[in-house]
Amino acid sequence: MAILDRHKILETNATLLLIFSFLVVTIGGIVQIVPLFYLENTIEKVEGMRPYSPLELTGREIYVREGCYVCHSQMIRPMRDEVERYGHYSLAAESMYDHPFQWGSKRTGPDLARVGGRYSDDWHVDHFRDPQSVVPESVMPKYAFLERTLITPEYVEDLMSTHRFVGVPYTDEMIENARADFRAQADADSDFDGLLERYPGAQVRNFDGQDGISEADALIAYMQMLGTLVDFSTFVPDASR
Ligand code: HEC
Repeated sequence: MAILDRHKILETNATLLLIFSFLVVTIGGIVQIVPLFYLENTIEKVEGMRPYSPLELTGREIYVREGCYVCHSQMIRPMRDEVERYGHYSLAAESMYDHPFQWGSKRTGPDLARVGGRYSDDWHVDHFRDPQSVVPESVMPKYAFLERTLITPEYVEDLMSTHRFVGVPYTDEMIENARADFRAQADADSDFDGLLERYPGAQVRNFDGQDGISEADALIAYMQMLGTLVDFSTFVPDASR
């Protein structure tokens, strides 16, 4: 009883309560924040992560431009229902090359962090053209203009240089070959050995099935890459941390 009585002094005195709450929050804050100063890096390195290829990066720009993040998150939380629905929870390293990150704060549609390989390219083409044709109850808007809008790699070097400026390790070689790599990825008949050396695991094909490289090609290349870079059948979390 005695301790509760003493607590009553705190609860009935606004100034004291304020001072003690401040103390508690300060101690809690220090305990959480200070260890971070002694860590060199808070992102655990994982095998497989690489900077996005020029075509994927362009697709990502379209994703950001169209505000897909308003309805879609790209972060699977380590909760059981999430992991069962979407796959392995997202690792920090998986968004290390995202500037800005696309974690999102709202899910009107499903999380897209591991959507790569879940559907065929044709499905994506139909879905962007008219989402209700494949999912009748969908509230996703139509993006039919993407497949009609042809794009060139005119600005892709600038885009990559900007990402390099904020920390993505694009090499001079990657930037020099950016235009060729951009075209090669959308054409299975091209010479894409260099592309695969620079961007291991990049998927090469005509994503939208039409002549010319369209915004749909870039966006589908990006969609099909999402969540496929890290091989979770062999991934072991680093227990030393
Ligand atoms: C108004 C909200 C909204 C916007 C904006 C939106 N979507 Fe969606 N999206 C949805 C909903 C709802 C679904 C689930 C029904 C469906 O499949 O259409 C969905 C489904 C999807 C799926 C299938 C995911 C799965 O696992 O089944 C993909 C891929 C997708 N959206 C990509 C995009 C992209 C790329 C953009 C931007 C160009 C975008 N969406 C914009 C609401 C939205």
